[in-house]
Amino acid sequence: MTSTTLLTNPLREGLQVERSADPCVVVIFGATGDLTKRKLIPALFSLAEHQLLPPSFGIVGFSRKAWTDDGFRQAQREFIEDERLNTPVWKSFEEGMFYCPSEFSDASGYRKLGELLARIDRERGTQTNRLFYLSTPPDAYSEIIRQLGAARLVAGSGSKNWTRIIIEKPFGRDTESAHALNEEVNSVFREDQVYRIDHYLGKETVQNIMVFRFANGIFEPIWNRRYIDHVQIAVAETLGVEHRASYYERSGAARDMIQNHMLQVLNLVAMEPPAAMDADAIRDEKTKVLRAIRPVSVEEARKYSVRAQYSQGFVAGKQVPAYRQEEGVDPASLTETYCAFKLLIDNWRWAGVPFYLRSGKRLPKRVSEIAIQFKSVPHLLFGQTADDQLEPNILVLKIQPDEGITLRFGAKLPGQSMHIRWVNMEFRYGTSFGVKTPEAYERLLHDCMRGDATLFARRDAVETAWKVIMPYLTAWRQSPEKDLPLYEAGSQGPVEADALISKDGHRWRRL
Ligand code: BG6
Repeated sequence: MTSTTLLTNPLREGLQVERSADPCVVVIFGATGDLTKRKLIPALFSLAEHQLLPPSFGIVGFSRKAWTDDGFRQAQREFIEDERLNTPVWKSFEEGMFYCPSEFSDASGYRKLGELLARIDRERGTQTNRLFYLSTPPDAYSEIIRQLGAARLVAGSGSKNWTRIIIEKPFGRDTESAHALNEEVNSVFREDQVYRIDHYLGKETVQNIMVFRFANGIFEPIWNRRYIDHVQIAVAETLGVEHRASYYERSGAARDMIQNHMLQVLNLVAMEPPAAMDADAIRDEKTKVLRAIRPVSVEEARKYSVRAQYSQGFVAGKQVPAYRQEEGVDPASLTETYCAFKLLIDNWRWAGVPFYLRSGKRLPKRVSEIAIQFKSVPHLLFGQTADDQLEPNILVLKIQPDEGITLRFGAKLPGQSMHIRWVNMEFRYGTSFGVKTPEAYERLLHDCMRGDATLFARRDAVETAWKVIMPYLTAWRQSPEKDLPLYEAGSQGPVEADALISKDGHRWRRL
């Protein structure tokens, strides 16, 4: 981006007004894992480059491996381009990185951590503000939380310094385990210290759903059952299970994508306008949507959902193996890599409007989008010939890639007669603003360091989201093996999912 573009694009004005975070130390548990070098460190470094980190800042990696400070620093360079590493910003960022080797269950490791943090506070002026980040396998969460409490590393309510904890998903694997984990977390941390991360909420386009709905006068009046026929939310991936079989085998698509990311997106699409732009007001409205989702019996769950698994096929011209042939996957695995749901929201705004959700791996394209399909006109004036198809207006909020918004409407085909063509009116983030949108983790880490929990999941929402999907998980668990359909990798998904939506006279948007 040149400085001329900066000056000539009026849409970019005001892009750099965010305030920098409080002085603090970020302690990453599970720091030798992939997430740290792929996402967390690049996000923190990008904040440093944009001067959004305070000068008094530090990072501590805490993990079992016997690394040194230097080893930790070296490992973090992998996902940062060379030209960004050879800069004074990286040098000072790197000097603030430390490593504390310890088992998660070893109390003496937390004592060492306490001493290291006290030293960083003295040397770097980080003012005893601490952000703990749990990036370990979930079975270590309880232990780490207990140890942090026992080592007195969590500031009490009277303290002028803050302690916060970010917890990665999966947050439990059913309603009971999520509840039990919440109890454990809240026995050491107050709820206002807890930040349950859902990286979808950090995506610019997901945040834009609220701006689109509540900053524009023209959409909200038609955002309801009188004008909207149905809503489709899709998250399609071309990737397979990659190297995460041990996690994914116990999770599956519904736990991995629907319980968290997709229900969060649905909440933003369906919520009422919040009373204020603050964390609790917004999260209250989102949770009300979850509460209004019609509960289903296990029997109904079978009728309103489809799960499936990919078999071998071609994605982007490359042959890919079946899920059951992937490394680390049980050759008789019943884990779903695709799922689709029809959900109904029983409230005044949405009564009778189906929300169709689908997500899958090894689909033909990577697409995340929300499509709002409006009701068709009540009386047909045009479109009398076979050439003219009467289509509904569709508003598509494109989350990724090609971030933007498209409205589909009918236009007159130029010429003597009245024929219709369906055209798209497009807004594209990239073209309009001409800036690279920040990574979700940048926004979320920065918000947490500023104490803003708006884009994090609250306890009640997490537990309610589990309640929403439990009947489906139970129905699938009880179904015989033959009821797990297969879909060819690279296809649009299983035919059973087409049947789910076509029963209502609709069809999925093509991926
Ligand atoms: C993660 C899931 O939460 O989200 C992955 O565990 C999935 O299985 C990923 O691939 C998708 O995220 P994104 O940002 O690439 O759409």
